Amino acid sequence: MSIHEIAAADLNVKQFIEEQVESIRQAVGDGWAINALSGGVDSSAVTMLGHKALGNRLKTYFVDNALMREGEPQRVVALFAELGVPVELIDARDEFLAALRGITDPEEKREAVTQTFYKTVFGRLVRASGAKHLLQGTILTDVDETVAGIKRQHNVFEQLGIDPQEAFGYHILEPLIQLRKDGVRKLAAGLGLPKSIYDRMPFPGPALAARIIGEVTAERLDIVRKATAITEEELEDTGAFQYMAILHEDRVTGMRDGQRDFGLQIEIRCWDSVDARRATPTRLPWETLERLADRILTGVPGVVSVTYGIAPKPPSTMEVV
Ligand code: XMP
Repeated sequence: MSIHEIAAADLNVKQFIEEQVESIRQAVGDGWAINALSGGVDSSAVTMLGHKALGNRLKTYFVDNALMREGEPQRVVALFAELGVPVELIDARDEFLAALRGITDPEEKREAVTQTFYKTVFGRLVRASGAKHLLQGTILTDVDETVAGIKRQHNVFEQLGIDPQEAFGYHILEPLIQLRKDGVRKLAAGLGLPKSIYDRMPFPGPALAARIIGEVTAERLDIVRKATAITEEELEDTGAFQYMAILHEDRVTGMRDGQRDFGLQIEIRCWDSVDARRATPTRLPWETLERLADRILTGVPGVVSVTYGIAPKPPSTMEVV
């Protein structure tokens, strides 16, 4: 199936919203639809489109998969409550951690998150709700990179020849599939979402699992979560496309209080990009990097090394997993 791209500059937001609302209504008929909100711009835009189309016949869940940033689940649910969109918070942390136990291969990690999300947790919610349709925020870049075999994105099935109806028991509607990130931001603003959402930097489906090299455990998630909070605070005003903290698998020799300490390494990446297809590292001021390193070395237990990634995409990708 070839997808007709709509560039952000050509996107007529009002018309796009009308068309997508109509097409969601037609697909769902008088049934129900269900969707999962992560708080990113894609799933937020889809939630608003679905809510506009179906009102309370759209059931929105926020699945806490243990891989989220600090305070994220509660923050997102509260924000949508303010917008008049009810969102149910599902605590699935143990299930995800169990599925990720012992896995170190990047694609297996992505697969574990995908399978736990769709087959186990979300599949269960869909079956319980009786909904036959799932709204999902897949964008064109996700499709490109999955089809090219660069990464198995979190949310691309039909393009891979996997029938979601057969594999998971439901139809997937993907209203954003013709857009890239800049188009989705324009749409999200037009849907009345606040700037804190439509201008929000992207965050990957596998969440912090995409930023841990090696095994994803509750303890390692705590480390990358703390480093992420500090990094996001310090780099918020840079205007960069995306910035992140990564936990490496290898330990390195360091010293603390006069003692040898075989400690952890955090890598910071900060990207300039328009649509995530290509990206270059931001030329951050040295003072910013120093402050960031200092806060991570003192604020995140066990870290003895902080590095800044300077390889562009390609050949790097933005996330490490
Ligand atoms: P990469 O690492 O492929 O990332 O250069 C490009 C952009 O995509 C985001 N990303 C994802 N987004 N599901 C998503 O919705 C995913 O599985 C996923 N993996 C990466 C990444 O954060 C960056 O903005």
